[in-house]
Amino acid sequence: MNLKLAFLAAQDIPQAKHDEIDALDQLAYENVAGHEENQKIEWASSQWIGLGSVDGCLATQLGCLEREIRINGHSLWVSGIGGVATHPQFQRKGYAKALLQATEKFIREELNTSFALLLCDGMPCELYRSLGWQDIADHVLYQQGGQTHRFESNVMIFQFSDESFPVGEIDLCGSPW
Ligand SMILES: CC(C)(COP(=O)(O)OP(=O)(O)OC[C@H]1O[C@@H](n2cnc3c(N)ncnc32)[C@H](O)[C@@H]1OP(=O)(O)O)[C@@H](O)C(=O)NCCC(=O)NCCS
Repeated sequence: MNLKLAFLAAQDIPQAKHDEIDALDQLAYENVAGHEENQKIEWASSQWIGLGSVDGCLATQLGCLEREIRINGHSLWVSGIGGVATHPQFQRKGYAKALLQATEKFIREELNTSFALLLCDGMPCELYRSLGWQDIADHVLYQQGGQTHRFESNVMIFQFSDESFPVGEIDLCGSPW
């Protein structure tokens, strides 16, 4: 596989690369069910961006952040993964899978969280399950504009330790990702 992977701090990425990332995001998500509705939400900014390029072309990407969430009053730091997208011309070549596997390594080595968490519906859930992600809930709460909102979505976690994920209502304590 001729895929070059890199993880960059979002703040260090030049504007031209951010534009390329935004363009790929638009292209990949425009036909995804619920996209219009989801655009009304202010999504959290990523702290790190995982990028996969082939011969200099951006092929696949995702965003990553750390957030202290609450579950039934219990605080827990998690790594959040979002915006997983592969350019339509590069799909079904195993690139998202390779990037997610590299992300697992990045989180293990660079971030100090026992869990990663993502929101996902439909076909991509199978991709995550095949990599060891588990389904844990069918909605989350998030905070935006001073209000608590509910987001209906399959909630998946990846476990980095033996610790059990707390049971109960998950509050992302900020914008979703
Ligand atoms: C989901 C997405 C990122 C997958 O990217 P990708 O690089 O094509 O994925 P991969 O080639 O690594 O796929 C790995 C496995 O995931 C599953 N998969 C990926 N795309 C699939 C599809 N369209 N239909 C069914 N299964 C699919 C398959 O099991 C696949 O393995 P296989 O090709 O050996 O059968 C890409 O389709 C995309 O950008 N979709 C639009 C945005 C989106 O929905 N993102 C996910 C948000 S949670």
